[in-house]
Amino acid sequence: MGKKFFIKTFGCQMNFNDSERIKGMLRGMGYEPTDNWEEADLILLNTCTIREKPDQKVLSHIGEYRKVKERNPQALIAVSGCLAQRAGWELVQKAPSIDLMFSSFNMHHLPELINQAQAGYKAIAILDAPPQDEDRIWEFPTERDNPYCAYVTVIKGCDKNCTYCVVPRTRGKERSRTLGSILEEVRRLADDGVREIHLLGQNVTAWGKDLDRPMPFSELLYRVSEIDGVERIRFTTGHPTDLSDDIVEAMADIPQVCNALHLPFQAGSDRILRLMDRGYTKEFYLERIHRLKEAVPDIALSTDIIVGFPTETDEDFEHTLDVVRQVEFEQIFSFKFSPRPGTPALQMEDQIPDEVKTQRMSRLLNLQKSIMSKLSARYENSLQEVLVEEDKGGKLIGRTTTNKWVSFEGDRGLLGKIVRVRISKASPFNLEGELMEVVR
Ligand code: 5AD
Ligand code: SF4
Repeated sequence: MGKKFFIKTFGCQMNFNDSERIKGMLRGMGYEPTDNWEEADLILLNTCTIREKPDQKVLSHIGEYRKVKERNPQALIAVSGCLAQRAGWELVQKAPSIDLMFSSFNMHHLPELINQAQAGYKAIAILDAPPQDEDRIWEFPTERDNPYCAYVTVIKGCDKNCTYCVVPRTRGKERSRTLGSILEEVRRLADDGVREIHLLGQNVTAWGKDLDRPMPFSELLYRVSEIDGVERIRFTTGHPTDLSDDIVEAMADIPQVCNALHLPFQAGSDRILRLMDRGYTKEFYLERIHRLKEAVPDIALSTDIIVGFPTETDEDFEHTLDVVRQVEFEQIFSFKFSPRPGTPALQMEDQIPDEVKTQRMSRLLNLQKSIMSKLSARYENSLQEVLVEEDKGGKLIGRTTTNKWVSFEGDRGLLGKIVRVRISKASPFNLEGELMEVVR
């Protein structure tokens, strides 16, 4: 019987893409995937440490998964990703059942680490910085669940040093992947039937600046759009200060680039933005949004917001609400500020009590609810191009270019096609419609 692996992924899309690559590596080593951790020979937790909650979740999952060893003493428990990077040996002390651990910098060392762990050693390889041969990771294929949409990591790390954020510590400095390596993967994916390419980076709009021959991110968008078979391009996550005019123009100019953008603003008050060291003001952010809406009139915007950053007053928070009111995001992801080890904001005075964070959060969510109902009403009776991604019990589902889920009746032969749908019912999170025609 072949060996089986089970992977549990926490955190962001970058982490999911890392897991897809790890799955590809494990397949290459003869492992088969399983959905049942109890029968796995290797359980891997790809972790996140962005806030306190994900840390706690990881520890409780390890507590459960270690029972796998009662039946199969040879089974290995592995931990990778941002919590592994941040906590290192401290995590092994808290959870001694961990056999193997690696950084986000050295995923490609996994085969050697598995050998070491199988020989009975604790294989803990947490590096301070990326090794010289980090790019070897791109030689491994990814294993994806969605045959039509694929993530492609184009830049790792972040140079921004926002005072609340652990990412510069867990993912290191910005390292752009070369144009050649990216295009080669995109070509391979397109040949494999992928129609939507989602370019990823903690700070994706900074891509290209650190290359031997520097190149703007907008150029990457053009180059990816020239590849046969690529019908749609998305990218996450952009930073407001790197969203230069050439990127906005490329979004308007390239038909394949979707009419959607996730652009975190975090807070509306200039004083809080300064304390966060975000490098822009409320006015600057609103100007970028204005420019975007001018260039791409039907763009769907989404954002991240932190509520209750140290010293945040009611008046500061009003500025956050004001930005939400002015921009009218289709979706917001809001988080209570969570102090992280090793970040400057942990030491700041005047931390905000949890009750105040909860109150502000509910005001924010109420406001957003009314905006979402208003925005979704605009979809009623409209015609939308949908990339058909799944057949769910006789109903086809797919997404609009604005990233809304749509369901409609249709034949499963339409999977992977772009079709036109008339929207008959619109609610804030999904749309229902009728198939009109196949576009391509
Ligand atoms: N506390 C709360 N939210 C945070 N984020 C990042 N760090 C923290 C923190 N310490 C949020 C930001 C970021 C998103 C991925 O997580 O909004 O954009
Ligand atoms: Fe979590 Fe940030 Fe790491 Fe993604 S980069 S896994 S969000 S800590």
